[in-house]
Amino acid sequence: MTAETTLETLMAGSRDRIENVLRELLPGQACASPRLADAMRYAATGGGKRIRPILVYAACELAGGIPDDADVPAAAIELVHAYSLVHDDLPSMDDDDLRRGQPTCHRAYDEATAILAGDTLHTLAFELLARRGNFSPEQRVDMITTLCRAAGAEGMAAGQMQDMQGHDQQLTLAALEEMHYLKTGRLITAALLIGVSAADSRDSQLIEAMREYGDAIGLAFQVQDDILDVTAATEQLGKPSGSDEKHGKSTFPGLIGLEASRARAEQLCLRAINALSDYGERAHSLTALARYVIQRSY
Ligand code: IPE
Ligand code: IPE
Ligand code: MG
Ligand code: MG
Ligand code: MG
Repeated sequence: MTAETTLETLMAGSRDRIENVLRELLPGQACASPRLADAMRYAATGGGKRIRPILVYAACELAGGIPDDADVPAAAIELVHAYSLVHDDLPSMDDDDLRRGQPTCHRAYDEATAILAGDTLHTLAFELLARRGNFSPEQRVDMITTLCRAAGAEGMAAGQMQDMQGHDQQLTLAALEEMHYLKTGRLITAALLIGVSAADSRDSQLIEAMREYGDAIGLAFQVQDDILDVTAATEQLGKPSGSDEKHGKSTFPGLIGLEASRARAEQLCLRAINALSDYGERAHSLTALARYVIQRSY
């Protein structure tokens, strides 16, 4: 098998797995509001690259855990991500109509339903970490704290706020990197850290390596997202191409150009791979995923 087929097999396996876990854990028709349950399922299943769950499974394995350990935290982080996309697409934010090749949640339902579906995907994530799976109270608190910090006012939400305030402004490169790191990098690093917690590892060297690796691929992931917004077609992306420019967003290609953006992504990928150098073959999946993050075409 080539390196690509190995990575594809790994990713497809984790995707199938998380798809099933999410379908089982999301509310169904018995929910107090079936419409809300429908909208939550619409936003969280049936699409997406599932990169964050894939990272949870890979980190958990590297830390000595098994996939069963990672199911609940992988679902929790994907729910937080799904909520962030539902809100990100709203008319008051990026005002986008297409997500994962389908109408965005507020287009398929309505704005109020999408806001509430985002809210409830978010709260469900933390309920799962508090109650589901086989974890000690310490592991639960650790995973909840990591995910809260990554998603909240020191993480993704702060990055989204900076993104909104950065409209039609020329940010410095440092400010742009900070925004990208917050809005996207923090959740990606959290995926790795909760993967390690799920395996019940407190290996400080591994945790440090996961932080370094995650921060680098997290930033690279958003740099590549900005590059694709300029270079890829809507059909390929499953979301509107050119959305950033249309909305006057501060982006990497906008600030430093496409070539320098690609070089920055490459540099971050190498930094991520370097962070795992002590782990040799055991880090093979994560090394391949770092390359995938900057080579992906959607
Ligand atoms: C899109 O995330 C939003 C960003 C943080 C760049 P993904 O590219 O992971 O979206 P899906 O989950 O695969 O649709
Ligand atoms: C989104 O960034 C980051 C989030 C926290 C959701 P974008 O606004 O660039 O993501 P897309 O391009 O809509 O997926
Ligand atoms: Mg946005
Ligand atoms: Mg957007
Ligand atoms: Mg984007």
